[in-house]
Amino acid sequence: MGCQTDQELLGIIEQVKPLAARGKVADYIPALQAADQSNVSAAVFHITRGRDACVSAGDIEQKFTLQSISKVIVLALALIDQGYTNVFQKVGMEPTGDPYNSMIKLETSSHSKPLNPMINAGALAVTSMVRGDSPDERWRRILHFVQCLLGGKAIGYNKEVADSEYKTTDLNRSLCYFMKQHGVIDGDVDELIDVYTKQCAIEMNCLDLSRIAAVFANNGRDPQSGNILIDEEIARICKTFMVTCGMYNASGEFAIKVGIPAKSGVSGGIMAVVPGKLGIGIFSPALDERGNSIAGAEILKIMAKKYHFSIF
Ligand code: DON
Repeated sequence: MGCQTDQELLGIIEQVKPLAARGKVADYIPALQAADQSNVSAAVFHITRGRDACVSAGDIEQKFTLQSISKVIVLALALIDQGYTNVFQKVGMEPTGDPYNSMIKLETSSHSKPLNPMINAGALAVTSMVRGDSPDERWRRILHFVQCLLGGKAIGYNKEVADSEYKTTDLNRSLCYFMKQHGVIDGDVDELIDVYTKQCAIEMNCLDLSRIAAVFANNGRDPQSGNILIDEEIARICKTFMVTCGMYNASGEFAIKVGIPAKSGVSGGIMAVVPGKLGIGIFSPALDERGNSIAGAEILKIMAKKYHFSIF
């Protein structure tokens, strides 16, 4: 399916471009440093417009890795695989107000349960719950699920980014060892880190991301085939987490100023969902101090105002 350039979206991108110079590309995963700080692209996928569903602007061919955006998708898969009770026995539902890789609440929360599935500790626990007889099968099921959300498109992952994170992610390893000691996860930590770093390195462009967002906007139904890909109730849970925890410890401010369920990643991607209407995929790698794309968040703020997209 083609994707027409949209002049209004292009205008918004031109407006926010100067902001990108103020942010900083993530460098704690060494391979992410290579990103071009000036890049900005966005795509919108309408759930009811058939062949004209998609509009975009900017460097639409530019691929990026999902990073934390994968947390929403893998949560959906774990809920499909294990059900509500099993998943939420191990992971909570409350925002933390702390950075995404923080350890502090693990020690103070009851049963050492990670507070929610959008922080690294919670996401690692969720990834460990994906069904599969081996880490490799779990990984293949995650990738296959993402491909299903893309209407069967054969996307892959960026091995350099995955390897780079695998080699350096001792903080995530420490979260896992802590949770293993306290019975939140079991199994081999390095094997879990391997699946998690690959899931974070799944690579696509913002048009692809807008299509995944559109599935959530459409209550879990594929906007093109009409097939149910995610149970409506699971899609609802995922969107709610996007509101309460999707922009990390900036989620409260984002809900007030923008009011669109959204999930960011340190690569500079943002997936945003306007329920019943459309999905949005954005890429711009320069981040603010809390790890959200500076220009990306501003695009959503402008769109929310202009098109009355706030859900509140
Ligand atoms: O685990 C990590 O630190 C990264 N793979 C993902 C973190 C992330 O995207 C947080 N985003 N703001």
